[in-house]
Amino acid sequence: MASRPFAASASHVVRAPGRVNLIGEHIDYCGLSVLPMALGRSVRIAFHPRSDRETRLVNRDPRFAPSAFAVHGSIPPAPAGDWGNYARAAAQALAQRFPDLRGVDALVESDLPIAAGLSSSSALLVAMALAIMHANGVSVPSLELMELLGKGERYVGTAGGGMDQAIILGARTGCASRIDFHPLRLTPTPVPADWQFIVAWSLVHAEKSGAAQQAYNERTRQCDAARRLVAARLGRREDISYPDLFAAAPVEQLLEVAGERTTLSGVLARRFRHVVTEATRVRQAETAMAAGDLATFGRLLDASHQSLRDDYEVSHAELDRLVELAREAGAVGARLTGAGFGGSIVALCRADRAPAVLAALQERFYAPRGAADDVGRHMFTAEPSAGAEVLAAGPLTPGASPG
Ligand code: GLA
Repeated sequence: MASRPFAASASHVVRAPGRVNLIGEHIDYCGLSVLPMALGRSVRIAFHPRSDRETRLVNRDPRFAPSAFAVHGSIPPAPAGDWGNYARAAAQALAQRFPDLRGVDALVESDLPIAAGLSSSSALLVAMALAIMHANGVSVPSLELMELLGKGERYVGTAGGGMDQAIILGARTGCASRIDFHPLRLTPTPVPADWQFIVAWSLVHAEKSGAAQQAYNERTRQCDAARRLVAARLGRREDISYPDLFAAAPVEQLLEVAGERTTLSGVLARRFRHVVTEATRVRQAETAMAAGDLATFGRLLDASHQSLRDDYEVSHAELDRLVELAREAGAVGARLTGAGFGGSIVALCRADRAPAVLAALQERFYAPRGAADDVGRHMFTAEPSAGAEVLAAGPLTPGASPG
């Protein structure tokens, strides 16, 4: 299938943004609130419906080979790491709910850095789900769709927490959103006009469906184990949720109990301490954002990074270096964002400082690594954007001439 004629004849285009998590890292799978926002960068799919169940995907990026499958409730996966598995995940989740879905022919493009902790893969999954739903004239209420796709993405083998699909679908322009779970809710807070978030990729790939997956899933199991042991020590039911555990005991008591060697091993104590302190930081950060308190938000970003590096052990030397350089260049705070193990950082500065921070990262991080030419792809200012949407037919890239 040639891409250009297809793009011209596509009946619709769907756009699903990437996301940057501002704070609340590695706690969504504990059912604890997080504070991400959607990016201006996105995955876009031009598609038209087919009359059968087949789905054919072509990616404008030649690194991703064409992929095809039939839409039904149990779709055999392509080999682990294959990009088409995110489309399969979307199709399977929907087909389990709507048994007679037709497929689509789809052309995919993206300006999101890949495997950079910015949810390009969840954006692909969400975009594909919207394309299939639109092609079939079916719909799912927004919050239900977020949950359906959050669970649906586990098809690829990662025990993700649901933040990504929720913000990609539910983001508001100009806002970050606190996401609460069980029940799922999104509460937007406007990002102050004189704040600027900057995203910078470490040049280290963090494949969600690759090497990082095992380390990620291990963290989810450790959090579960720590919760059960702390609950037992406090005389609570072992299946108590994290939010209920936090409601039952003050933070100080939780940290004290977790620090007792008889309750948790060293590793579990550190994991638990990250979860407890990060959950506290999310509440404080949301308050700071609403009050326009840049300095406090920055301090919380720094504390989050330290905790992710030392207690949760998901950072990487290149992420630590980026954080350090951003701080030295005038960011009020910075931290790794997303699952870690590589990927990107998010830094916060006053808007008028952003050019200086970007210039310093270019000169001191990207140039010595031979990546200064491509720097616009690796780092950018993050504009809080709207969630995913189906657009009327048109060129895939806004402003490009069709065909
Ligand atoms: C990945 C997962 C999310 C979340 C983050 C870490 O992006 O998909 O659910 O757990 O890692 O905060």
